[in-house]
Amino acid sequence: LKTISIAIDGPSGAGKSTLAKSVSKTLGYLYVDTGAIYRTIGYAAFSKGVDPKDGEAAAALLPELEIGLHYGEDGLQHMTLNGADVTDQIRLPEISLYASAVSAHPAVRAHLLEMQRKLARENNVVMDGRDIGTVVLPDATVKIFLTASVEERAMRRFRELEQRGTPESYEKVLEEMRQRDYNDSHRAAAPLKQAEDAVLLDTTELDFRQSEEAILRIIRERT
Ligand code: C5P
Repeated sequence: LKTISIAIDGPSGAGKSTLAKSVSKTLGYLYVDTGAIYRTIGYAAFSKGVDPKDGEAAAALLPELEIGLHYGEDGLQHMTLNGADVTDQIRLPEISLYASAVSAHPAVRAHLLEMQRKLARENNVVMDGRDIGTVVLPDATVKIFLTASVEERAMRRFRELEQRGTPESYEKVLEEMRQRDYNDSHRAAAPLKQAEDAVLLDTTELDFRQSEEAILRIIRERT
């Protein structure tokens, strides 16, 4: 029995997680947020005082980490680190840059590959990330590359942080967004890039509902 997998890749703040979550609910598929897994490692580095840019130090940390991914009664993906629920902590803005830095190391990426593939083997999934269509699930049923202008993505993240009660200035959010774009697309290991067989969807001019409809249309045409 073959499972169906929808790979959604793209830069930070393109709306991947919100859209993937909503689309997975409509389709009755499992939503897998792979960024949360990298964030969990970023959080581990942060809390242990490890320099996330140091590949050897990050690799040395891996055997000590027990990373758990499970779905709560709320249907949402929860992350645990050595048994402790870190779902909220990994969303802190400073963890974003830690996650981006640790995710550049090949040892970190290799460590997480099987965990992601297993989820897609055992479930119908909507999986979002940076390298799902290119590396993790090269045979995904449908691949979507979701993007929007960096200014629009920074504006969305700015509003989200404000709503969450952890506001930052727009300039700072934009600067961090640019830095993450650069890190994610210039690293040697699994850089962010559109898979050749992915459908490009630019949501700069689309609101949430329009983006969601566009994604569902792309999926329905191909499944
Ligand atoms: O998607 P999110 O912003 O939560 O991801 C945090 C960081 O994890 C990203 O900036 C990116 O560097 C990294 N990441 C990755 N590959 C993935 C998902 C996330 O390198 N598949």
